[in-house]
Amino acid sequence: MTRYLVTAALPYANGPIHLGHLAGCYLPADVYVRWLKARGEEVLLICGTDEHGVAIELRARKEGCTPTELVDRYYTQIKKSFDDFGIEFSHFSRTSRPIHHETATDFFRSLYEKGVFEERVTEQFYDEEAGQFLADRYLIGVCPKCSFDQAYGDQCERCGSSLSPDELIKPRSALSGATPVLRSTRNWFLPMDKLAEGSVFRTYAERVANWRSHVRGQFNSWINQGLMARSMTRDLNWGIPVPLKGAEGKVLYVWFDAPIGYISATREYFRLQGGVDSEEAWKTWWQSPDTQLVHFIGKDNIVFHTIIFPMILAEQGSYVLPAQVPANEFLNLEGEKISTSRNHAIWLHEYLVDLPGRQDELRYVLTAIAPESKDSDFTWLDYQARVNNELVAILGNFVNRVMVLTHKFCNGRVPDPATGHALSVDLHPALESCWLEVDNAREELYALMGEFRLREAQVAMMRLARAGNKFLAETEPWKRVKEDPQTAAGILYVGLQICAHLAVACEPFLPATSQKIRGQLGWNTLSAEFIREWWIDCASTSDCRDRHNPHLLGSEQELGAAVHLFTPISNEQIQPLRDRLVRFSTAQGESADAQAVQSKNQNNTEMEYEKFVPVKPEVAYPDFEKLDLRVAQIRSAERVEGADKLLKLDIGLGFEQRVVVSGIAQYFEPEGLVGQKVVLLANLAPRKIRGQMSQGMILLAENSDGRLVFARPDADAEPGAVIR
Ligand code: 2FM
Ligand code: ZN
Repeated sequence: MTRYLVTAALPYANGPIHLGHLAGCYLPADVYVRWLKARGEEVLLICGTDEHGVAIELRARKEGCTPTELVDRYYTQIKKSFDDFGIEFSHFSRTSRPIHHETATDFFRSLYEKGVFEERVTEQFYDEEAGQFLADRYLIGVCPKCSFDQAYGDQCERCGSSLSPDELIKPRSALSGATPVLRSTRNWFLPMDKLAEGSVFRTYAERVANWRSHVRGQFNSWINQGLMARSMTRDLNWGIPVPLKGAEGKVLYVWFDAPIGYISATREYFRLQGGVDSEEAWKTWWQSPDTQLVHFIGKDNIVFHTIIFPMILAEQGSYVLPAQVPANEFLNLEGEKISTSRNHAIWLHEYLVDLPGRQDELRYVLTAIAPESKDSDFTWLDYQARVNNELVAILGNFVNRVMVLTHKFCNGRVPDPATGHALSVDLHPALESCWLEVDNAREELYALMGEFRLREAQVAMMRLARAGNKFLAETEPWKRVKEDPQTAAGILYVGLQICAHLAVACEPFLPATSQKIRGQLGWNTLSAEFIREWWIDCASTSDCRDRHNPHLLGSEQELGAAVHLFTPISNEQIQPLRDRLVRFSTAQGESADAQAVQSKNQNNTEMEYEKFVPVKPEVAYPDFEKLDLRVAQIRSAERVEGADKLLKLDIGLGFEQRVVVSGIAQYFEPEGLVGQKVVLLANLAPRKIRGQMSQGMILLAENSDGRLVFARPDADAEPGAVIR
């Protein structure tokens, strides 16, 4: 029997988890694995924190703590975030544990003994001020592929390219900012060019042809460019010591040890299970040809998971190589790349403070916009729209209507199935089309999940709720109940069946919601066997046994209380979250992390790219016409007592005079404003600000450094003239 060994990229324990991480690999891994489990498959979902490498050391320096203190803290926080969002790992380990050190060391030694590595003395960048070699992220420079000027010595996080230190343009030290010198040092290299010719790797490489096109694209471009040898050791202190004589002061390359973390975490999982087989069971999972190894990762990890790690596994012998690597592209945020250094990010722990209890809402939206084939964009407005228009209006509304009506008309019990099967002839077309839609959606859902097309699969799941809503709208049980209570009961019986289908279908995507629906249906004893059959039946609608299955919900089963599954999100809830992001991206600019190493050159590409606030959603011309924009002239200006930011302006519009209170006192001296022409939004509802009525709003532009400047009309423009 096939067993599925699913992994999700080990996050660096150097910071909390944000939306991009969740959407990139953890949520899709969880959705996929929940689905496999529901189908009754043998499956493990393995993860843990990646606790070595320069990323950890640099962060510890910045936070003024030791690497150990840092990883201990973030391990706990990261694990909690995953638990909070229902990411159900079979095991979540850490690469700092002895079992991992032992596994990675054995791996390295065994490859060494097989003669796989090439020992080379090469010239590496060295920081004379700091007195150390500049491995990986210790070296920063301009990416040769995308010109991002914060690219690291091993990788560019902007374009996802994997780099070698000598490729970086204008390299500099992340420690001191100094230009490094070259010094010779001995390291152990993986001769990737040679290993790509190995028969195991070549057989494996054929699979890649069926993978996502961007994964295949990166894989092919690496292979076609010609692979180069890559060092698997580093001149650093923090990490797993290289287990060779003469290698003192060197550690394993973090990308050598981290993927082996999947293996050590599996070993640890079985060890913790105990039992006679506890030291050997992991081998069945990693070494039996029946295993399907699936790596969920983000696109910046593709080369490591599709080339380097498979090569290491192939050389080690007896290991399975990945069957699938469903990597996602990047998730952007409000039109800009997520940037942890600028805090242009939504952190999971903060989301829960802002929107408590709304984990499933976030899961839903992130799956709906999953960057499966290209980068996608999370915006708070889209989040709000999807929650309100899809979760509340379609799924929540359907389940709630059925529940409320059944409580009202059927004493809160599942009606006799006979009523559902004996609907009058005039309702047959609605019933038929409803079941057809349900069957098609189930079949599609199953097929899409199997192809890792989770985004479309979730749409198919929602079609069950749409079918239910349509059926209720067409059959109107609330109208029929007086004349024909039997028929109304029959309609609700069908509605409850669809709720039950939904409870099973939505579980991989919305586990908490599934529980709630089951609770409301009084359906807490659902057996694993039943769920398995439900999914297996989906695979073949011709054998869809519970299509009219009277057993899905027992007759007379008592329902729980009808409680809304979701509540709408208001503008007032969303606006502060939007403002917070916009303020960070425009006013704060680069934060200390980046500044510490960044040259003063403001023309770097990241700044160019990230300084613009995204264009808002389209508006229709009639909406624009509602705004009355006028040329206005400032006649006098004075500070508002007790308010540092406010100026009271006396404005001339030609036909009248107005007072406008404006938050510009930090940017302009009142005297300098007199006589200036400005643009006034003249029909904004008057507002009282600090006891003073403000009649309109002056338009200003906000530069990328957060400075406000006037959007000024031409000198010839007359006060009172309409701007359109
Ligand atoms: O990119 C990252 O966050 C790495 N820590 C991922 C490692 S994945 C695996 F190989 F361990
Ligand atoms: Zn780049």
